[in-house]
Amino acid sequence: MPDYVVDVHTHVYPPAYMAMLRARKTVPYIHDPADKGTPRLIILSSDDDPSIPIDKRGRPVDSSYSDINVKLKFMSQHGIDCSVISLANPWLDFLPESEAVEWASRINDNLEALCVSANQEGEKKKLFAFATLPLSSANPPRIADEIKALPSLPHIRGVIMGTSGLGIGLDDPRLDEIWKALEETQLVIFLHPHYGLPDEAFGGPEVTNRYGHVLPLALGFPLETTIAVTRMLLSGVFDRFPKLQVLLAHSGGTLPFLAGRIESCILHERKFTANGGTVPGPQRSVWDVLKTNIYLDAVVYGTAGLKAAVEAGGGSDRLMFGTDHPFFPPLSDDETEWPSVTTNYKAIADSFDGDQVSAAAVLGGNAVRILNLQ
Ligand code: URA
Ligand code: ZN
Repeated sequence: MPDYVVDVHTHVYPPAYMAMLRARKTVPYIHDPADKGTPRLIILSSDDDPSIPIDKRGRPVDSSYSDINVKLKFMSQHGIDCSVISLANPWLDFLPESEAVEWASRINDNLEALCVSANQEGEKKKLFAFATLPLSSANPPRIADEIKALPSLPHIRGVIMGTSGLGIGLDDPRLDEIWKALEETQLVIFLHPHYGLPDEAFGGPEVTNRYGHVLPLALGFPLETTIAVTRMLLSGVFDRFPKLQVLLAHSGGTLPFLAGRIESCILHERKFTANGGTVPGPQRSVWDVLKTNIYLDAVVYGTAGLKAAVEAGGGSDRLMFGTDHPFFPPLSDDETEWPSVTTNYKAIADSFDGDQVSAAAVLGGNAVRILNLQ
């Protein structure tokens, strides 16, 4: 095990947010079964299927989602020294303007307080956080003000953001004010999926076997991230804001694998202008953006994905370990570690095959440097 392990992809739902979900009856919500069994977290639109009994919808949700002491114990169990915690999806995306603004400051103050209390003198485990933005307020100046105030919270290192932006995606020109504030404050944007692909991609509403969460999480999530960041690229966000720093969840979805194809299509499109398109496309190449603006987490569970991530980023210094805790099934009685975390560690060890320096950088050193976690 290297000296210092940092988890940059690890979520919490503060207790107040859990209570808010419990009071709701539409997605996202928490359902408490009448028989006092384990509550269910129903956050994905595909979970809220009336043909599924409500006590079986979504996934079980226990204290690992909201109790920071459970997170600290998880860190000890898996040799993690420092975690950069973030609110989990769907963040504040579903709240009306007035509530989103209030909730953003409540959540961010709460995350900061969790970091302060964990980081007491003598405590071995350290916490930092990615803040949450009231994006559904669709009020760019208000959101930009929120961003500019974040450096007053000493443990905030960036913001977590979904792919919907102000409602229509991340190529929306109204977001420029927000990108500008993020660039100026040099807060890292942790871009994380939630919406996946439309049901039609998996057979539509008539389909009887949905295979649980496999299709939405294994394929819907990564493709959503890929589409979101590609739309940012195509609309010239990285041309206009060349210092923007974006950490892509799940090793960039499929971006490292598809970057060459994206670049090729952009070059073709300049000649074809198919469908009457007039956009000249981005001035900077996707490879340049990958090496300058993009960081990737190492949450991909296999050497092929990790090697593509390293190759696309021009080396191992833009890749950072993560776990996606607590989105795991409960441990069985004979297990003490979560298989997805151990799979992840093994994939990193295998990818660097004896190159201890690079492996240690991915496991912790890169995050310490990039996110200033001293
Ligand atoms: N991981 C997440 O972060 N969110 C989900 O909804 C599922 C897995
Ligand atoms: Zn996640």
